Order: sequence, then structure tokens, then C-alpha cells
Amino acid sequence: MRPKVIAGNWKMHHGPSATRKFFSEFSPRFDGAEPTILIFPPAISLLAAADSRGSRPEIGLGIQNIHWEPEGAFTGEHSANMVVAAGARFALVGHSERRHVFGETDAQVELKVAAAIGEGLTPLVCVGETLDERRGGRVEEVIVRQLDAALLGVAEDAKNPILVAYEPVWAIGTGETATTDDVAEAHGILRRRLREIRGDGFAQEVAILYGGSVKPDNAAELLAVTDVDGVLVGGASLDPESFARIAESG
Ligand code: PGA
Repeated sequence: MRPKVIAGNWKMHHGPSATRKFFSEFSPRFDGAEPTILIFPPAISLLAAADSRGSRPEIGLGIQNIHWEPEGAFTGEHSANMVVAAGARFALVGHSERRHVFGETDAQVELKVAAAIGEGLTPLVCVGETLDERRGGRVEEVIVRQLDAALLGVAEDAKNPILVAYEPVWAIGTGETATTDDVAEAHGILRRRLREIRGDGFAQEVAILYGGSVKPDNAAELLAVTDVDGVLVGGASLDPESFARIAESG
């Protein structure tokens, strides 16, 4: 059984003081190790998050984006080794906003996955189709292509397995959630592809999260779908009470 993973992607919200306030309210809500909680604050708030996790040091912290080089003239970027030093253990890679707003390519996703794993970060690789791609019957083609590119960055003997999130682009921040049938189908495709490429042992280890308008009132239903091992939550992870309710659904 893979433990459920409840991840919050804060995007460009919550600077350091809002981050401290969030943890002062959220951390006391849980004890015990399950579900696995991950938070992806803005890079500027990572240190504040690491300091203010308080009684919940096992809450995993991640960066929303990394550069693949260890250092250099890359204004505005952060390398994997820097974010490890700031307390992160996870890195989002290939989030749809990185792909569609900032032009991130499959080739860059491969490089970022390799850089993350090389520094001991676990990449949470996001894949998902646009509405046009769904209407064109291309869901499988798109998510398999994105997953394959990410897997090229995972060496055969990599120690920290990747996490995957299926996030249909049309469901992110729109209030539109995929139906449980759509989610089951996409997660089934991803699990099958992991098995084809890396074998059953690897495929069984990889948690596949669903993301896209997850809220306290739909989380339990989504988490009950076959092959859904967790959720990646944007808007509803900003409020400690709402994120805590989602975590309790897992
Ligand atoms: P949302 O975002 O929950 O606000 O739809 C999800 C995400 O982008 O990871």
C-alpha cells in the first residue's frame, strides 16, 4: 500500500510572514506520519517554512521549480543544491504553468528531473493535457509523451523514486474537476506506462497524485479512485483550515 500524499502548491502566494502564520495554524492539526504532507511554498519562503514547521518536522517541503545547472549566470533561477540547503526535499517539475506560461519543454523537464535526483530531491513531475488536446482525443498521447520525457531523467539505479501528478490543464484553477472516470483512466494509463518502461516494482512504488480544483468537498471522492495516491492542491492549500480538511480526507 502506498501512503497517501497530500501536497499543497502555493504558487506565487504566501511570503515569509504569511508562511509562518500558515504553519502556526496548520502544524498543530496533525500528529502521526500519515498522510504524507508536502508543501511547495515560493522559494523566498522556504527558510521560513523550514523554521516554522515546528512540531511537524516531517512535513515535506519542496521548491516549485529548479534550474538543472548547479550554479551559474542564470538570473532569477535556483539550483537543486541551493534548495536542498534551504530545507527542501522535493521539487515540482513540469507544472502546467511552467510549461504553458513560461514555455518549459519536455527536454527541460528531463534535465530538471535528473538534476533534482542528482542532489537527493524527489521530483514531483506534473503531466496533463489541455482542453483542445482532450477534445482531440489526445490525452494518452500527451501524458505518455510527458511521462516518458521525465523518465529519461531517472537513472536505472536512482534511489529516490519520482512522484507523478496528473493535472489536466483545463481543471487547474477553474473550479472544473475531472470526473472520477476521467481520473481513473488517466491514472491507469500512467501506471501502465510506468510498468512498461521500468517494470512492475518501480511502477508500484510511484505515487500518482491528481491535481486540478481539488477542494475539501471533493477530495475524499478523488482519493478513493483506483490508482489515485494523493492530491496536488493549489488554491485550497493556501488556507490552513481548508488544507487540513483535505489532508483529513486522505
Ligand atoms: P488548483 O491548482 O487546485 O488551484 O486548481 C492545482 C495546481 O496547479 O497544482
